[in-house]
Amino acid sequence: MLLIKNIKKLVQVEDSPRTNVAGAAMAVLPSLDNAWLLISNGLIADFGSMDSLSQALADIPFGEKKAIEEIDAGGGLVFPSFCDSHTHLVYAGSREIEYIDKIRGLSYEEIAKRGGGILNSAKLLQQTSEDDLYEQSLERVNEIIKMGTGAVEIKSGYGLTTDDEIKMLRVIKRLKDSTPLVIRSSFLGAHALPAKYKGNREKYVDLVINEMIPRVAGEGLADYIDVFCDRGFFSVEDTDRILEAGKRYNLRGKIHANELDYSGGIQAGVRHNALSVDHLEFTGSDEIEALLGSGTMPALLPGAAFFLGMEYPPARKMIEAGLPLALASDYNPGSSPSGNMKFIMSLGCIKLKMIPEEVVNAVTINGACAMGVEKEVGSIARGKRANIFITKKIPGYEFMPYAYGSDLIDEVILNGRIIE
Ligand code: NIG
Ligand code: FE
Repeated sequence: MLLIKNIKKLVQVEDSPRTNVAGAAMAVLPSLDNAWLLISNGLIADFGSMDSLSQALADIPFGEKKAIEEIDAGGGLVFPSFCDSHTHLVYAGSREIEYIDKIRGLSYEEIAKRGGGILNSAKLLQQTSEDDLYEQSLERVNEIIKMGTGAVEIKSGYGLTTDDEIKMLRVIKRLKDSTPLVIRSSFLGAHALPAKYKGNREKYVDLVINEMIPRVAGEGLADYIDVFCDRGFFSVEDTDRILEAGKRYNLRGKIHANELDYSGGIQAGVRHNALSVDHLEFTGSDEIEALLGSGTMPALLPGAAFFLGMEYPPARKMIEAGLPLALASDYNPGSSPSGNMKFIMSLGCIKLKMIPEEVVNAVTINGACAMGVEKEVGSIARGKRANIFITKKIPGYEFMPYAYGSDLIDEVILNGRIIE
């Protein structure tokens, strides 16, 4: 057992766990001042305020009490780990050369049209062995663990041939088995059109449906299915076909939509009861209308708009309409080469005009919901996994997004174990 004492604020505590928070409720962040937290068998066993600690300890049998390891939070805050519901962190190499093209004025779409972008990463990945890809990706996983992430969704989509997509998904599976993170995987065969299918998109979509999905599902390698439904990439019709095919294998949609245009992707996602629709820079009243009352979580990825210097989604309008929002990093080599969820919170505040309570909800419980792990993580609730972090001594949770460049995490605990 592990006991954390003298917690200045225990953030996002729940007595009765919720699945997500929407609209005005996003501005409420339940927390407990001057608290303790008890962890047992990797799970959150109990919590309370410091004045109730001696009573709580008196109820623990003597033998067990002797084995309690104690941590003094020393005035630090405790948060549930970040739940990053959208990443592409399995990739080969990097694309800083394109970044320079971008600085010089080329747009994301222009770079993609020249055969750069996703196709550039696909070429590199196809030349990389599974073991090498695993090693490169493991480094990124260890990096995000140190930055406070405790659950992450990872996509394929840089393979673009059946074997290379499978290679990516096997790497994600190895990461699931070998790291303490909660990991969910999404199959994103329809991420970009490979050069050899130029002018023949339908044929590539056929390959995704008839060959890739059955093999991916046959090996049990994916939890969800994704499509880049946007101008210049895949159409609503392609998306309909792929999501239908996914359903036959129990793969629920989690799609890229409306990053580059009013693509109809949001409505397509809702129509197919996708778990989430992500990006959403181009969201108007029709899209908000479609999302309201649906079971689809809107997930915003402000790191991509920041890095590409593009439009930000209308987060305020969406919250005011009553929607829930998740925020994720989109960690990938082309549009958001960072998995720093603390910085995503800062972008949420600065660029999306969300208040600190809203961004914390968006990167914890709503992030968990957007990847289907809200019963396991996303809040401090009895019985959930003890995936948490302790901050350095800071004034309050508002300081996290405010001090946007500072490393404020003191200790990371995953499955009840301190990460060295
Ligand atoms: O989420 N929008 C599509 N896919 C990624 C970018 C991938 C890349 O450029 O490598 C994204 O932004
Ligand atoms: Fe993405």
